[in-house]
Amino acid sequence: METLFSVKDKVILITGASSGLGHHFTKTLAKAGAKVAMVARRFDRIKAISIEVSQDGGVAIPFTLDITQTSDIKNVVKEIEDQLGQIDVLVNNAGVDARKNIFETTDEDWTKVIDTNLKGLVMVTQAVAARMIENKKTGSIINISSVSDILGFKGGNPAYMMSKAGVSHFNHLLALELASSNIRVNAIAPGVYRTEINDDLFDTDLSKVLESKVPLLRFGNLGDLDGALFLLCSDASRYMTGTIIRVDGGLGINKLIL
Ligand SMILES: NC(=O)c1ccc[n+]([C@@H]2O[C@H](COP(=O)([O-])OP(=O)(O)OC[C@H]3O[C@@H](n4cnc5c(N)ncnc54)[C@H](OP(=O)(O)O)[C@@H]3O)[C@@H](O)[C@H]2O)c1
Repeated sequence: METLFSVKDKVILITGASSGLGHHFTKTLAKAGAKVAMVARRFDRIKAISIEVSQDGGVAIPFTLDITQTSDIKNVVKEIEDQLGQIDVLVNNAGVDARKNIFETTDEDWTKVIDTNLKGLVMVTQAVAARMIENKKTGSIINISSVSDILGFKGGNPAYMMSKAGVSHFNHLLALELASSNIRVNAIAPGVYRTEINDDLFDTDLSKVLESKVPLLRFGNLGDLDGALFLLCSDASRYMTGTIIRVDGGLGINKLIL
């Protein structure tokens, strides 16, 4: 069973590795023997994580990249391959939000969210998938969507929620496109986890109401994502493509929540 879920020596590119989920994924996968390429804009953060990981005997190398600067992506992918070897797994995790309702969301908010969560994600995928195909490599692409891909509520943040619906639909389209190249494409749709993106919402009355509506009656801890992560990174998911694994305590199916 240990071998089935093994990520040992796999080269795994994680975008948005400087905090939250991406930081956790980096530490967890490196500890299990993967060689992680960490991508984010804040080099100081990923450099510090890299040092921490290497002190624990793991490999996680920092690469600065703003995924909205799409002309830089191919060069960074090449640098990663030069340093770590051909990429086995891409975790499309980088994301931003703009917590404003439909009428408050500005032109700049739409650009920031869509350019990062959708266009940047697609362009990183394009660059990595092209190399996987050229390398004739079996690959796995993991898109970090969100419970917001199917949940909505009055006053919610439409740019973020629509971007995540887009990520989930892209997940299906890409799975169809890449299946014949032996590249699997699946998504993880997390529920609510405390990270930098939502830290200000915690300990408020709204978060208490929301938490009480989670069928499993609590928000997630980052370790709750590990099962889905190891499944999708490893050969254990060799016959899975186009799926969305919801790690949300049941929140996504509780349509009567707010
Ligand atoms: N936390 C939750 O409850 C939750 C729930 C569902 C889905 N998610 C999804 O999980 C993913 C990670 O979010 P998180 O909760 O871990 O939030 P976070 O702590 O704010 O992390 C976001 C990461 O994205 C990176 N990033 C943002 N814009 C970028 C860009 N243009 N280029 C490269 N990297 C960029 C940030 O790094 P730099 O600032 O250093 O670039 C940071 O590492 C997101 O896609 C989010 O939508 C989170």
